Amino acid sequence: MRKAVGVKLKLAKEFVGFDGKPADFRALFDKNDKTDNYHNLYSAQDIRSARLKLHGIDPSITNKRIIPPIINCRMAKGGTGKTTICGGIATALSLFGYKVLMIDGDPQASLTGLFGINWATEDITHIGELMFKYCRKENYDINKAIWPIYDGGMLDLIASDISLANSDSWLMSLSNREFTFKKFLDTNIEFFYKYDVILIDSAPSTNLLTNTFMCACTKILAVVWLDGQSLKAMQVLAANVDELNNAFEGMGFHLNVHIVANGYHPSYSSCKESLTTLVQSYPGMLNNVIIPHSTSFMRQIELFKEEDSGTVLEREPNSMAARSIIDLARSLIKEYQLKLADNYLI
Ligand SMILES: Nc1ncnc2c1ncn2[C@@H]1O[C@H](COP(=O)(O)OP(=O)(O)O)[C@@H](O)[C@H]1O
Ligand SMILES: [Mg+2]
Repeated sequence: MRKAVGVKLKLAKEFVGFDGKPADFRALFDKNDKTDNYHNLYSAQDIRSARLKLHGIDPSITNKRIIPPIINCRMAKGGTGKTTICGGIATALSLFGYKVLMIDGDPQASLTGLFGINWATEDITHIGELMFKYCRKENYDINKAIWPIYDGGMLDLIASDISLANSDSWLMSLSNREFTFKKFLDTNIEFFYKYDVILIDSAPSTNLLTNTFMCACTKILAVVWLDGQSLKAMQVLAANVDELNNAFEGMGFHLNVHIVANGYHPSYSSCKESLTTLVQSYPGMLNNVIIPHSTSFMRQIELFKEEDSGTVLEREPNSMAARSIIDLARSLIKEYQLKLADNYLI
């Protein structure tokens, strides 16, 4: 079982968007359901209810049953920080009060590991199994695939294990297979609409599984490590996106790319050169927040005590690394037009 996650007053005020006095801030919370350390730690659920209260929003009044925006972390190469960024922004968006669903779409299951779940020993129902049963018209229950990471449905995970690698073998036989995941979402809209955002961590390869995730999106999040190899991988990914856009143009499908640069180190000139190339080659597509190279990110995984693993924001909330993840998450709220209980707040 993971430790209860929360942030202290200063960060909680920032996430809520409140700059008044601490006493007025505390008045936003309903004391009845709080434990003794209530004044010390604010959970994602606390922050959501405070934001809704502050803006006078009644969350029970939701009009739209729509699939929320999907942020699919992609790169045609391993080790660029896809999982780090995916898990990081998931925890940050949840602490901004958004209800977040993470889907581990990589058979390597690193996102699953980041949240302390040992896929080798646990019984995992992954997204491939759910889609397979949906396609075969067999019974399935998405609720049984969910691992609650934060209370109150603030951060849920559909975990993965190595058997997800089998997906292409059965996807191959389907017609219109690129849209399998989209059809699965639409069919289960009653389950998915309760989230404000869905995050998918993808494998590096270009295959039917990674394509079907991309075909449910309007904008992928390309995570580029600032070196020459990653720039080449970005070209491969851009070609993959072009192919999908050409193939499905007639269906009104168009996929955009938003780029986040990761691993910036001021003393390496190669980082600066890669950044310049990125800006020139993909004008207007690069996020303003550049994620620095930081050892804090490397401390996220506890190999011998999985339950102590967690994102940099959970483990070192005041670090420079956590700051960059918070800033990135804030900019993505805008970029992907995320809504809190149907309301656009930033
Ligand atoms: N900004 C960063 N600074 C330092 N190390 C990083 C950074 N981003 C990721 N890492 C480390 O690089 C390795 C690969 O990151 P990961 O997120 O697993 O990449 P991917 O999912 O693209 O394969 C991990 O050990 C991770 O801790
Ligand atoms: Mg990964």
